[in-house]
Amino acid sequence: MKYKVLNKLKANMGLYVSGEALSEQLGVSRTAVWKYINELKSQGYIIESSSKKGYSLSEGPEVISAYEIGHGLETQVVGKDIKYFNELDSTNTYAKLIAAEGCADGTAVIAEAQTAGKGRLGRGWSSAHKKGIWMSIVLRPLIAPEEIQIMTLAASIAVAKAIEQECHVRPGIKWPNDVLLESKKVCGILTEMNCEIERINFLVLGIGINVNHDMEDFPEALREIAGSLKECCGGEVAEPKKEFSRKNIIRCILAELDVIYRRLNTENEEAYADEAKQIVDEWKKYSVTIGRRVKAAMKGQELVGVATDITRDGRLIIACEDGSIREVMSGEVSV
Ligand code: BTN
Repeated sequence: MKYKVLNKLKANMGLYVSGEALSEQLGVSRTAVWKYINELKSQGYIIESSSKKGYSLSEGPEVISAYEIGHGLETQVVGKDIKYFNELDSTNTYAKLIAAEGCADGTAVIAEAQTAGKGRLGRGWSSAHKKGIWMSIVLRPLIAPEEIQIMTLAASIAVAKAIEQECHVRPGIKWPNDVLLESKKVCGILTEMNCEIERINFLVLGIGINVNHDMEDFPEALREIAGSLKECCGGEVAEPKKEFSRKNIIRCILAELDVIYRRLNTENEEAYADEAKQIVDEWKKYSVTIGRRVKAAMKGQELVGVATDITRDGRLIIACEDGSIREVMSGEVSV
């Protein structure tokens, strides 16, 4: 019902609709209308109230509530259930909690801001309020724990495709899953897993995308390496720079990931191998790592050489300067 009230206000954007009209048209009391209006306001909608004229919805910052993201989203698993928060410590931490309590496969957790966003390798992740996409997706894949990297590659492909579709630029992916524009990192993915030796109980794909940040929105220490879609898509001359719809990008990621995930999630080994190969091939098309000289930190050792390929389960193959060929499962690569 709350969303019926919202849709009436949306249909009369910027105009007042009286509480009486809303209550009559929707068949609920005026007190109920008032309660729904307050709930919508708490979700970030900007609604003016006037005792004489009623309620009026104003164009404000884009709202990415569960309703806005989920309404009309035609996915089968990913994003079927969406949990939305104004603020969380970390969407990954919350997603792990509800995953352990048994939430549905594909549940997405979205927050407008994170107070303790987590990055890879124990780092933090700067997550400014309403500037970016801070989202975690709970998955329960049938794959073995050692094949998990393929899900991370799949997530980076889904993000790259969504950016291409919404921003009309082609991003690059730095192994394993940093999405770059103009050599600046616009997206990072933190994959966390809860597993037994032979099976994954759940994994959480944490996706952070810098969308509408101006450079001042980043901590100073990050300004050299981090970028936002707004900063990196405009080119030199575009002033003022264009803001992008976080809602459209999120919907696009959920739709892309839904297709890849359902295809990967099969017990048929041949079908799985075929799908994994397609993911690896697709990832390579976006790769800015393959063919480049890289340094990889692995178990306290530094490998230096040329990244020649990735394996079918997503490990990076490096032809090292000492003549050895090494496979790297995780870690930091600099090109
Ligand atoms: C990286 O270091 O590159 C990974 C960054 C991942 C950040 C995202 S934001 C949403 C989710 N919640 C977190 O606390 N981290 C991930």
